[in-house]
Amino acid sequence: MVVVVVLVVVVLVVVVVVVVVVVLVVLVDGAIVVEGAEVVVSATPVVGEAIEVTSGSDGARAPAPSLAGIDAVQALASSAVAAATAVIVVTRRAYTTADRSALVAPTGGGRQRLRRVAEGRGTTGRAVDRARIEGVIAGWRCAVCGATVDIATVAPWRCPRADADDPYHVLHLVEQGVEPGVEPDVEPGAEHGADDDPEPGGGGSTLAELVASGSDIGDVDPFVLYGPRLAWWAFARANGMTAAACETLTSDVVGDFRITPFERSELLSNEIGANVWVKDETGNVAGSHKARHLASILLHLRAAELLGLTAHRPPLAIASCGNAALAAATLARRLEWPLDVYVPTWMDDTVGDRLEGLGARVQRCERRPDDPPGDPAMLRFREARDAGAIPFTVQGPENALCLDGGRTIGWELADQAAIVGVDLDRVVIQVGGGAFAACMGAGLGPGVRLDTVQAEGCAPLAAAWERATMVDRPARYWPHVMRPWHAPHSVADGILDDETYDWIADMDVMAESGGVPVVAAESDIVRAHELATAAGYRVSPTGAAGLAGVLTVADDLRAHENVAVVMSGVAR
Ligand SMILES: Cc1ncc(COP(=O)(O)O)c(C=O)c1O
Ligand SMILES: [Zn+2]
Repeated sequence: MVVVVVLVVVVLVVVVVVVVVVVLVVLVDGAIVVEGAEVVVSATPVVGEAIEVTSGSDGARAPAPSLAGIDAVQALASSAVAAATAVIVVTRRAYTTADRSALVAPTGGGRQRLRRVAEGRGTTGRAVDRARIEGVIAGWRCAVCGATVDIATVAPWRCPRADADDPYHVLHLVEQGVEPGVEPDVEPGAEHGADDDPEPGGGGSTLAELVASGSDIGDVDPFVLYGPRLAWWAFARANGMTAAACETLTSDVVGDFRITPFERSELLSNEIGANVWVKDETGNVAGSHKARHLASILLHLRAAELLGLTAHRPPLAIASCGNAALAAATLARRLEWPLDVYVPTWMDDTVGDRLEGLGARVQRCERRPDDPPGDPAMLRFREARDAGAIPFTVQGPENALCLDGGRTIGWELADQAAIVGVDLDRVVIQVGGGAFAACMGAGLGPGVRLDTVQAEGCAPLAAAWERATMVDRPARYWPHVMRPWHAPHSVADGILDDETYDWIADMDVMAESGGVPVVAAESDIVRAHELATAAGYRVSPTGAAGLAGVLTVADDLRAHENVAVVMSGVAR
């Protein structure tokens, strides 16, 4: 009898527990289930949402959302295991709207679109968000601490609050009329009047109009066409340079940039089973997209010099032994501006010879006995920067101006797709340091889904994305969210950055557009390179890595889907 009563009580308790858990899971959006000491989110977080822990089933409360929160969740999970209560209830908070708006600055149109999407009215749409991409830049705002920097500021490379003890800051662009606290000193163009000093280039004709009037797309310089949308241009205008002088300066310094080809690849489309569109950057200046990022830094420097805002030329500095270094050397040479390239001792001599041939000073960096952990080339670069060298690099936290010119590739892709009447469903972009994907997303706007790709042997962004879903405003907890990848390896050696420096912007563009980080198997990276080569592109494994991401998600693509990749660097 006693045994029966005990059994009934046990069954009742189990039933009650199960019912409570089911009700909680149904009432809230998801639950964190404990398996051993691991915390697993039982329902996949909806893209762009953060998870806030509000209570534990044992009555414990996790502290307010913070990254101390991730650790708290883990502690809570362990105690839940100990107490044999295995569910922690979580609720989700919209991340794309309130939290993200603190980090990004879409235009009014972009904001309304996001609001409509957040409210369930309308979709993210497919058309490129014209309002967003036609914005004029008003200034800079740190995505971490919120510090603002006026557009008229000379050398706005880093957040004013970044220092050796707290380098975790990054300035992002703010479009005019969007962000309170970032007011342009002078309305670009206002000091001259619209009629006597009209904006040429992008302020005049669009790419579609140029093509309609018979211009060859391959003759158009994107830095002229989109000039007035660029931050360096707004800087020069705010300091009194005329629009005509901005255009002349553009032609003098980057007059050889051209809109790069965009086409549907028959071979790749057949192979993937969807429409694969390719933007081919392999013929761009210095053989990759990297020169676009550096061009806006150089234009800013030259404008400051011509405006009499700088008195001397400190050396440029970069830590790279790949495409970025070649692009830096190619551009620096144009102005005969001294450049130090900090490289590892194991760098291939042919690259060193090439850099020296372009006039760069190659600094081979041995590890010193007293060096802290990390890449010695990066350590020497930072020392040079701290001693006054100009960071001439494609890493947003080191030089925010690299996030300016890189957007030209996104604008081009959007315009070229529109000209051939294609609604892009998604773009899949390879990520190393992350500036490329950030700029592609900024250029395309939130209407085109942007997925990022990393190799399975180096995927710090995907790992950080998982951590970021667990906290409120992950940017505040940078070193906890973006942790260096141990022993990166892949044949795609241009995307082996152990940290994704521009992770905040990358997550923003993914969250806003409904994209996700994709981790490609090494076999897909190898196959993508073979396929791209067979399709006629003289591209490196890194340059074809976006296609590897498409291979990874191929089963999820619909047959009529239009997916774009960028063959971003030439095979050397
Ligand atoms: C050819 C090529 N594609 C893509 C990338 C990735 O760009 P990012 O480092 O800005 O993410 C690189 C970086 O070196 C590259 O060389
Ligand atoms: Zn800051």
